[in-house]
Amino acid sequence: MICVDWEAEFISRLEKHYDELKWLYCELYHNDEQAFDYFCTVLHRYYQERKPVLKKLDRSRSQDPHWYKKNDMLGMQMYVNAFARNLAGVRDHLDYIRDCGVNYIHLMPLLESPAGRSDGGYAVSDFNKVEPELGTMQDLAHLADDCHDQGICLCLDFVMNHTSEDHEWAKRAKAGEKEYQDRYFFFDSWDIPNEYEKTVPQVFPTTAPGNFSWCDSVGKVVMTTFYPYQWDLNYANPIVFNDMTANMLHLYNQGIDIIRLDAVPYIWKTLGTNCRNLPQVHTLVRLMHMAADIVCPGTLLLGEVVMEPSKVVPYFGTIDKPECHMLYNVTTMATTWHTVATRDVRLLKHQLGAVFSLPREYIFLNYLRCHDDIGWGLDYPFLSQFGADEVAHKRYLNDYLTGRWFESDMRGELYNDDPRLGDARLCGTTASLCGIEAAEFEENAWKAERAITLDIMLHAFLFTQSGIPVIYSGDEIGQLNDYGYHEDPLKWDDSRYIHRGNFHWDEAELRHDPSTRQGKIFTALRKLEEIRRAHEVFDNNADTWVVETYNNSILGIGRYYAGEKLIALFNFSESPQTAWINDEPDCLNLWNGEHWDAHNVGLPAYGFVWLYKKYLQVDEGAVSKPAAKRKKKTA
Ligand code: GLC
Repeated sequence: MICVDWEAEFISRLEKHYDELKWLYCELYHNDEQAFDYFCTVLHRYYQERKPVLKKLDRSRSQDPHWYKKNDMLGMQMYVNAFARNLAGVRDHLDYIRDCGVNYIHLMPLLESPAGRSDGGYAVSDFNKVEPELGTMQDLAHLADDCHDQGICLCLDFVMNHTSEDHEWAKRAKAGEKEYQDRYFFFDSWDIPNEYEKTVPQVFPTTAPGNFSWCDSVGKVVMTTFYPYQWDLNYANPIVFNDMTANMLHLYNQGIDIIRLDAVPYIWKTLGTNCRNLPQVHTLVRLMHMAADIVCPGTLLLGEVVMEPSKVVPYFGTIDKPECHMLYNVTTMATTWHTVATRDVRLLKHQLGAVFSLPREYIFLNYLRCHDDIGWGLDYPFLSQFGADEVAHKRYLNDYLTGRWFESDMRGELYNDDPRLGDARLCGTTASLCGIEAAEFEENAWKAERAITLDIMLHAFLFTQSGIPVIYSGDEIGQLNDYGYHEDPLKWDDSRYIHRGNFHWDEAELRHDPSTRQGKIFTALRKLEEIRRAHEVFDNNADTWVVETYNNSILGIGRYYAGEKLIALFNFSESPQTAWINDEPDCLNLWNGEHWDAHNVGLPAYGFVWLYKKYLQVDEGAVSKPAAKRKKKTA
């Protein structure tokens, strides 16, 4: 057995980062060396407290820094209570998660949060305590152990922009303790808040207008970018950063592998700016990255940056100075639904072209929908060349995807519909947004089949992209919208609950019955995942490009890696279409095992193909490259 000198390990990791760590910290916090020294003692404490089994995992992952970058990862996102009532229930259902082929689960916030003022758990009142009805910290650690035993990684939200107004710090601030008021943004009058309002946009314009709230007990105004009960933390105060880093490390020490940095672009505020993505945010994320790298290098940071691509990509940092390990591919997600609604792939091609040109080191989380709404952050300047006007276009997308448009079977609901801005966003489960709900309601088997075909095609598109595909729990069996929230006074003003319903275990029982919607979708997703895992062409390191199909309804994606080539075609139209391509002859359609020429390929409504070609190995390490063919790639 190798005996590891833990202290030496810690010191060598600290030394590796020390200069940069101190430089950035002292620059941000005005040379407050005392605060910096305390920060270092925090790192040491959490290193010492880290369980040997987790330290071992850190070491083995450090040997293979690509452990999360392969084509064998499949994620699933879920609320603990909706999936299995509590953490013990999730442990009991790990077999189901494995049956789904999932090896990464993202549990939505589960720390203590006051009922009715929790924003789905995003208002934490105690970072060291699990919400009692979900279990305890020990249950969380047990779940993490079981996950690791079964080869599953665990991701958890770290709600760092704000605390609940019931958090200990907030309570002490309310009681008048200046030291704790300084952990938030308090103002004696509305003068400065009003100045902020001139430049800061609103996150929830209808459900929680404004960025500030009056705090009666103190007689002051407090900054609340999200809901009034979510008090923004002041990261210009080093005590806040030190203590929040400790909270993050505490979660990692429970065995959490991936921390999702919730609402991270918002964590630094400066008057006169939009208080989003300020340079100090990047300094803080870099510091957190280094902190984790010193204490627990087998862990990852996932940034929640729901912004346009130019704002997202900087959160990867640089190769030398990385920030987040993974980010959401949010624009591709929104553009996918735009494409469903318009049956026109031109914007999606443009978006994918931009993603494909990014360094392969960048890992995106790809998804069709999550627990939040779908916001229409599309590339409007690009769309304007086809005559699309932003407000009118958003209205069309919302009309189509909520079923208000003539003959639309899609069943979403609007979110934060602010008539002044015409800026409503959209909610709904993937199945309901694909038309399955309406078809089943009408008992129209033909329509249901077509909607299921669309649902499967969208997942195939998801699985074709580099990065990690993440399914929202329930989507694997085509779960429909849950309208129950309309009856719940604690939820009825937040339509995001329409797609956060309880998991239907009775429906999951049908997943192996091919005559059911559940069986069709589940089996298809399993098959897609298995094909993806079995073929290196889906590796993150693959060369990827947009294939010109000369048909605005068919998206074409090419992939090439280590002698394997894939031409993937997706028909976003509800009528049969032809991809006018002239590519490889005699490919294997991985989806149905048939041999097809990649030449003028006809696709049924919402159909897709995965045309695969393996080149003969000529000699060791070299492959006969399809040089002439690959010139065809277009962006
Ligand atoms: C993130 C979460 C969202 C929440 C918000 C405030 O954007 O995804 O659900 O409302 O943060 O914490």
